[in-house]
Amino acid sequence: MGFKQLLAFAAAVVLSLVVSGSAQVSDFPMYKLSLMWPSSVCIPRSRCKSPIPAVFTIHGLWPSFRDGRGVPPYNPISNKCSVNPTSSANILAPLQPIMADLRRMWPNLYVGQNDEDFWKHEWSNHGMCSDYYQNPLGYFNETLRLAKLSRYNALQVLGVPPSNIPHQIDTLIENVRRNVGFFPEISCSKPQGSDYLYLKEIRFCLKRGTPVSVLQSCPDQMDAGCKKVPPLNRTVIFPPATDSTISGLKATGEVLAFT
Ligand SMILES: *[C@@H]1O[C@H](CO)[C@@H](O)[C@H](O)[C@H]1NC(C)=O
Ligand SMILES: *[C@@H]1O[C@H](CO)[C@@H](O)[C@H](O)[C@H]1NC(C)=O
Repeated sequence: MGFKQLLAFAAAVVLSLVVSGSAQVSDFPMYKLSLMWPSSVCIPRSRCKSPIPAVFTIHGLWPSFRDGRGVPPYNPISNKCSVNPTSSANILAPLQPIMADLRRMWPNLYVGQNDEDFWKHEWSNHGMCSDYYQNPLGYFNETLRLAKLSRYNALQVLGVPPSNIPHQIDTLIENVRRNVGFFPEISCSKPQGSDYLYLKEIRFCLKRGTPVSVLQSCPDQMDAGCKKVPPLNRTVIFPPATDSTISGLKATGEVLAFT
């Protein structure tokens, strides 16, 4: 390559960087709706406030790449995924109209932490790179809307009731596929001192869009937590509700049973 061509090539590279840098939002094809099972998250029991909800609660709605990795958090220098996103300091006022539902369905389970901190964390880490980067009410309300749909009622679609009997993770994944038509992602935790994996979260993958509505299979059906044990040993406990008091989003309908 001669000097002139080199110069032209360099100019083209700079131009393309400038153009891509001005993109409105980063290029991601899907969202993950992540719902957590409090009785697993709250092992040991002492880490959570009382009462522990006996229903799945919301973890978040995460812009994700095709391979399942999450879009990294907004950073004005290293990850300018959107332009002038709303700061997490300014999300609470717009959320007032949906505050009651947020507290019920998207609580911060941990002792010593409040709900607002959790929402701000989710906004900074996921909302600011989403299609709703200047619309926190839209982002949180859209997530509530999805979590209320019976299609994403994890207590139903997993196909087994909570119990202390370990299940093959593959069986649960297949039950969900049968019930909703697509593969979910299961997230596992292995509490200290336990020989067993616990079902911590179920994630549904949805095509990017506003509204978010088209379900698809997740690229990976298990997270790294589930893969900590060898494939033949991948059983998971979906434990019964810890507290007798029930709060939060009430499950609707019967638990479907599969034999
Ligand atoms: C939240 O979304 C629901 C649809 O699920 C809609 O009916 C409601 O008006 C929205 N609330 C606000 C405050 O935007
Ligand atoms: C896997 O399960 C088998 C059979 O239950 C058991 O003998 C083995 O020790 C387990 N391996 C690990 C790494 O947990």
